[in-house]
Amino acid sequence: MFEDNEMVHELNHPIVTHKLTQMRRKETNSKDFRALAEEIAMLMTYEVGKNFQAQEIEIETPLATCRKKILDEENFVVIPILRAGLAMSGGVLKILPAARVGHIGLYRDEKTHQPIEYYSKMPSNLSEKILLVVDPMLATGGSCSAALQMLKDKGAKKIFLMCIVSAPQGIKKILADHPDIPIYTAAIDEGLNENAYILPGLGDAGDRIFGTL
Ligand code: PRP
Ligand code: URA
Repeated sequence: MFEDNEMVHELNHPIVTHKLTQMRRKETNSKDFRALAEEIAMLMTYEVGKNFQAQEIEIETPLATCRKKILDEENFVVIPILRAGLAMSGGVLKILPAARVGHIGLYRDEKTHQPIEYYSKMPSNLSEKILLVVDPMLATGGSCSAALQMLKDKGAKKIFLMCIVSAPQGIKKILADHPDIPIYTAAIDEGLNENAYILPGLGDAGDRIFGTL
């Protein structure tokens, strides 16, 4: 459906799909669910990382001086959308351990499905940084779209959105509201049910991660 859209990247990788299938199973417990979300986030960071610009610096190996490329890790900001995004931020930080971390607290109102903001804490100078916004679920897209707008209002210019499971409706909303932001997702599912949960999806990600079912 989004194959021709250069802003939408569905990973479609056998290892990622294998891990996601385990997350989807209802019998997978919180401990395994969290571990799998973290592992998928690591693999997604590798894929998103193809966009990163490394700088050349001079280094010395035990044998010679040479110019080689390196990333300015501290220039990256991982931003989990609370709560469920926390399960992914650990995976991103395993790959970029010196990255900074910002937090956005949002939850969906159960009746209206509209995002309600309750927390925000960001590092300074967002306009100069590369932001990796992580949330396992892109359902209606309301939460991620609101988070991205909040970050743009604070000056953010370079943002990547990373979600594990996305509904077509959520992807369409992000493309409409934020056509400048690349979307990385492990899978694009069929759609939403009457409660705006992704089908087949994996259920309520926050509850499964934190055992609050
Ligand atoms: C989930 C999920 C997203 C949002 C997706 O969070 O982690 O943030 O729903 O739905 P949307 O695309 O329709 O906005 P939830 O509101 O359940 O909060 P939680 O992470 O605190 O459990
Ligand atoms: N939030 C979730 O946790 N799961 C969904 O399927 C939709 C929103």
